[in-house]
Amino acid sequence: MARSHVEFIQVQNLPWLYRPDGRAERVLSVDPESGAKTVMVRYLAGYRAPANPVDAGAEEFLVLDGTVTIDGIRHGRHAYGFLPRGSGLGKRQSRWGAVLLVFRHGRDDPDSAAGTAEPIALDAAAMPWDVTPHDPQLAHLRLARKVLRLGPNDSGRTFLLCGLPYGVPVEPTLPAETHDHAEEMFMISGEMWSPEGPMRPGAYFYRPPGILHGPHVSQTGFLQIMRSPGANRIVTHWSAERRPLPIGAPYAPVLPAGAPDSWRRPVRAATCW
Ligand SMILES: [Fe+2]
Repeated sequence: MARSHVEFIQVQNLPWLYRPDGRAERVLSVDPESGAKTVMVRYLAGYRAPANPVDAGAEEFLVLDGTVTIDGIRHGRHAYGFLPRGSGLGKRQSRWGAVLLVFRHGRDDPDSAAGTAEPIALDAAAMPWDVTPHDPQLAHLRLARKVLRLGPNDSGRTFLLCGLPYGVPVEPTLPAETHDHAEEMFMISGEMWSPEGPMRPGAYFYRPPGILHGPHVSQTGFLQIMRSPGANRIVTHWSAERRPLPIGAPYAPVLPAGAPDSWRRPVRAATCW
């Protein structure tokens, strides 16, 4: 079974699960078959951990807050890293604590294993924005991006995406979209309207291939981290049908069966940890 369609949760509604080693986790999405999962991790002050076990899936992360030193490299806010499976990397400590978004790859995924995948350590904040034109159907969002990783064998891209304020078209309708690959998103700051409601900081979705979605507009602008598991290049199929702009749409998420009612609470907070 692949990952469920979740569109979208606000992580503020998820409990922190405290682990005995001084870590707390919010579990955003899991693939029970492969072990791939996306979690928000909080390291309490003084946290220390040895290298990732050899059988643990590759670890891909973005530091949301605080500082953590991994394998001697100090990672501050919006540092990005990739630690291949079986690389022996991941020894870490955090003196004052940190909050990370972690994308854990599947246990048997050959494309994220050492020897095929390279370790990465980037300061995303210092990277230049790519402002070359995107899809004209998204021109109203005034997008820019920073590509953080291109997976080997077309296994997926990870990137930061931002949109300027007043990202609303003059027209009252826009087409919807589908992709042949999955999409995953975490909202770092700002806000974006979707037919499922307003995505605020801490909004998260995992969208399997082939799901019709959008349109999206943003009055405030936004910064998000996105992944496209299964493709390094996003290919969008636009619908002939046009949909009204979703400004003012109430929060109405698509959730997996058995999700707690508390996940349906609208969230107004400006931060999520
Ligand atoms: Fe999309």
